[in-house]
Amino acid sequence: MIDLRSDTVTRPTLAMKQAMMAAEVGDDIFGDDPTVNALQEKFAALVGKEAALFVPSGTMANELCIRAQTEHGDEIIAEGHSHFYYYEGGAPAALAGCQTRFVEGRRGIFTGSQIVEMLRPSDQHFCPTRLVVIENPHNAGGGKVWSVDQVADVARACHEHGIRVHLDGARLMNACVATGAKPSDYTVDVDTVSLCFSKGLGAPIGSAVAGDRETVARAHRFRKIYGGAMRQVGILAAACIYALDHHVDRLAEDHDNAGLFADILRECPHLRVDPEVIETNMVYFRVPEMGGAQRFCDRLAERGVLILPDSSSSCRAVTHLDVSTDQVRTAAETIVNLAVESSR
Ligand SMILES: Cc1ncc(COP(=O)(O)O)c(C=O)c1O
Repeated sequence: MIDLRSDTVTRPTLAMKQAMMAAEVGDDIFGDDPTVNALQEKFAALVGKEAALFVPSGTMANELCIRAQTEHGDEIIAEGHSHFYYYEGGAPAALAGCQTRFVEGRRGIFTGSQIVEMLRPSDQHFCPTRLVVIENPHNAGGGKVWSVDQVADVARACHEHGIRVHLDGARLMNACVATGAKPSDYTVDVDTVSLCFSKGLGAPIGSAVAGDRETVARAHRFRKIYGGAMRQVGILAAACIYALDHHVDRLAEDHDNAGLFADILRECPHLRVDPEVIETNMVYFRVPEMGGAQRFCDRLAERGVLILPDSSSSCRAVTHLDVSTDQVRTAAETIVNLAVESSR
C-alpha cells in the first residue's frame, strides 16, 4: 500500500528507535526525566520562548494553549477551518468554555485589520475577545504557508487590543522549510506556539507548546487536569529530539514530491488540483463526480493507494518520509488512470 492519507502515518526509523532505546528516563511528573527536560529546553530555544512543555498530541497542545490563555465565557477568533475548532471535537467549548467567532480567511490566512474590524466595545452584551489562533501552515487551506510579516501583522493588531495570539504550528517546520524562515521568526510576535513531532517529522507520538513561563505553568496545570501528564516518557522525547535533529531539512523532499504529484494530476482533465500552487506536503484535488470522493478513495485502495476524502467531491493526499518519489509518482498515475476510467 502507498499510504498518502496523512503525514501522521510515518513509522519511526531504525535510527530513531535506537535513540529511543538509549534514552535516559525518569518520572516526568516529578520533573525527573532528563530527556523530556532536554526536549523542552531545546524546543523553547528553537522558538525563542521562556519555557516549553512536552504533551501527547497536537490536539492537547492547542487546547492547553487555549485553556491557559482564556477563562470560561471568553471568545476566540480564528479562521473557520482551523484545526483546533474544526477537528478537535468541540474542545474549545467543552474544555475551555469559550465561543469561537470566525474571520474570513483566504486559504486560512487573514489580516490584523480584519481582526480589528471584528472587535466590539467592552460592554455587558459582548463576550470578551481574549485569543486569536493562527494555523501555519493551514491544513484545510491546502498546506498554505503564512509569511512572517503576515503573522507579525495579526500579532501586532491583537496586542494593541490586549488580545493574545496562539500559533498552531503543528507543521511549523514545513512552513520554515518552504519559506527559509527560522521558527523563531514566526514565533517572536506570538504568545504561544505548538508543534507536532508526530507528523512530517516522523516521531511516533508527541507535541510541544512554548510561551512565557507563567502561561506554560498554567498549561502544565491543565495538562495534569486533562490527563496528559506522563511518567518515563523520555523514551518518546528522545524520538522527538531525533526528529528535530535529523528530519527537518528533508521536509523539502516531501514538498518536492507533493509538487510532482500535483503536476501529474494536473495533466488529467478529470481532476482539478486546488489550490494551484503546492507550498508544502499536501495536495487537495477534485475527483470525477461518479460516485463521490469516498467511492473514489475505496476504489483507489483496491489498487494499492490510500488517500482520504476531504468533502463529497474532493480528496487529500499528503507526502511524508515513508513514501519515496517513485511511490508518489505511482500513486499519482494510479489516480489519473482511475479518474479516466471513472469518467468514461
Ligand atoms: C494543524 C493541525 N493542528 C493540530 C493537529 C492535531 O494533532 P493530533 O492529531 O496529534 O492531535 C493536527 C492534526 O492533523 C493539525 O493538522
